[in-house]
Amino acid sequence: MNKQEAQQKIEELREQVRYHNYQYYVLDEPVVSDAEYDRLFQQLQELEDQYPDLVTRDSPTQRVGAPPRDELGTVAHSTPMLSLQSIYEEEDLRHFLDTVAGGAAVSFVAEPKYDGLAVELVYVDGVLQVASTRGDGFVGEDITDNVRTIKTVPLKLIQSVDAPPVPELLEVRGEVYMPVAEFRELNRQREANGEPPFANPRNAAAGSVRQLDSTITASRPLAMYGYATGQVAGYRFANEWEVLQTLPRWGLNIDPRNTLCSSPDECLEYYRQLAEQRDELPYEIDGVVFKVNEFAAQQALGMRTRSPRWVVAYKFAARPATTRINDIIVSVGRTGVLTPVAMLQPVQISGVTVSRVSLHNQDEIDRKDVHIGDTALVERAGDVIPYLVKVIPEQRDGTEQRFQLPPKCPICEAPVVRAEGEPIVRCPNIDCPAQIEGRIEHFASRQGLDIDGLGEKLVAQLVQAGLVKHLPDLYDLTKEQLAGLERMADKSAQNLLDALAASKQTTLPRFLYALGIFQVGEHIARLLAEHWGSLEAIIEASYEELVAIHEIGPEIAASVRQFFDEPRNRRMVEELLAHGIQIERVERAGPDLAGLTFVFTGALKGFTRDETRELVEQRGGRVSSSVSRNTNYVVAGRDSGSKYDKARQLGVAIIDEEGFNRLLAQA
Ligand code: IVH
Repeated sequence: MNKQEAQQKIEELREQVRYHNYQYYVLDEPVVSDAEYDRLFQQLQELEDQYPDLVTRDSPTQRVGAPPRDELGTVAHSTPMLSLQSIYEEEDLRHFLDTVAGGAAVSFVAEPKYDGLAVELVYVDGVLQVASTRGDGFVGEDITDNVRTIKTVPLKLIQSVDAPPVPELLEVRGEVYMPVAEFRELNRQREANGEPPFANPRNAAAGSVRQLDSTITASRPLAMYGYATGQVAGYRFANEWEVLQTLPRWGLNIDPRNTLCSSPDECLEYYRQLAEQRDELPYEIDGVVFKVNEFAAQQALGMRTRSPRWVVAYKFAARPATTRINDIIVSVGRTGVLTPVAMLQPVQISGVTVSRVSLHNQDEIDRKDVHIGDTALVERAGDVIPYLVKVIPEQRDGTEQRFQLPPKCPICEAPVVRAEGEPIVRCPNIDCPAQIEGRIEHFASRQGLDIDGLGEKLVAQLVQAGLVKHLPDLYDLTKEQLAGLERMADKSAQNLLDALAASKQTTLPRFLYALGIFQVGEHIARLLAEHWGSLEAIIEASYEELVAIHEIGPEIAASVRQFFDEPRNRRMVEELLAHGIQIERVERAGPDLAGLTFVFTGALKGFTRDETRELVEQRGGRVSSSVSRNTNYVVAGRDSGSKYDKARQLGVAIIDEEGFNRLLAQA
């Protein structure tokens, strides 16, 4: 199916789905089975996944809180269902386990991290009253009828003779999942019946638990393990481990694989064992959860915004998937970089459909020997962007084709440029339609010329209306032109003109940044400005003079030169100046924080992140985002997190907001 056919099919499917939605929800007279409806919906979903740029806001797939879910009703959680901080590196786990206790003796509860659906069960006087999904953590969906069909969920708690009395109120949190063997069997049946298979056990569990018709849920092989409590009245647990020991004595299902670990080494050993058993486990897991066992230590550690500090999920590396490279396309970014992108046969990787992956540049393509038509191994490390591990040449049948980045920009056909020794190829045309919207947004951004009100939407309107073809056109806009735009009131038109006029008074670092020179961000713009003091001097600076500056490497120097060597760019700068842009001379900042590196963590009362950066950099200091031995000061505000711990560990000076103020006052 080509794109045009796909578009037509998508529209057809949307019409059908809308019609069935109406029959079902409004008239209460469905004319097709749920399965048939699901099939249509899923077909639509798959096509949209394949062509993400054809997705529109009004597609039935884009409804927030789709109707069936609305119909389930909502349940407010009496205490929020929090999330877990995920970590991926052994080093980070070590750090957590070693520092979390702050010197006190603690033990850890280690549990599998189930890949299912988090739910809460509310038992009042031992009777299951309500079951709900996690939802947004505060309010979930009412899935009581469905959960009642899960055989491992007791409808009434049991009172074993030697167990503590069943409490008046017990909220149990846990995971509903579908065992792997049952999942496979279910999919086999579905395919035999011509129904679409589920992508993975988690989707199957989630889909089954949120059915409107609980007889469907009942026919699905679901199970549940408890792992925590919410509110409890009438019993006081001693620690986290005792929770897991006591719940099963009341009839709740708790995983026998949970373990109490008395040291960080035991925790790591638990992780290794579970990772080894992963493929043999009867259910899917995506990591291990470690919880501080002692309630007093938990209390002392407290919370981040949405997750407690006393628990982490140490995630397994995602499994790679194999799929076919259907095509390689070239995308052109804001700075003109041409990026080859592999269009994949959509494939599920840890629950996410992946249909494209960046190949970065030609060198990468050559090094990995990527051909169109190849079978490739694709991976997602952690929660991040997918990447292509390698292709599998053994799977070739001779129809595969080599790929070479084009010598011309695919959008504006300007011959591309490639700096010596660099793998990156760029379109040098700053007026290239692929770049213009991004360039204007960048130009107008807060760190650039800070043109209030000129955001993404308006920029798109201006470009599409043909009013702005290159940056200087901004300053030729008239009130009449603006008033002709959709949803542009007289007042906003005037506001924009005022903002444009105001933006003409600017500073050299801002102006340099606003030009959007490849690899020249805020920090480098400031360096250039402070070293040369005027735009003319920077335009004239030679490559050798540029690289001679500390922090300006060959790539940045080449990029600056390339930008100003391009006549088109010089002309644009001249035009901007001719429109009355005035560049203030840089007041050279005192050298008072020179050579010092700052890291900010947590929220400060008196400054935003941008402000602290500006203050430090004006005084010759540097701001970094991660703590290392080279950090001079960590400035810790409210809710500061792992950077604070890292600083403590490395013995870096930690100051608070007041200390930072004092430093500034002295500087
Ligand atoms: S404990 C404050 N234990 O993780 C900590 N969560 O809860 C409360 N999850 O999406 C949660 N396995 O589905 C906990 N053994 C486990 C878990 C687990 C999976 C998931 C849960 C939720 C997320 C945060």
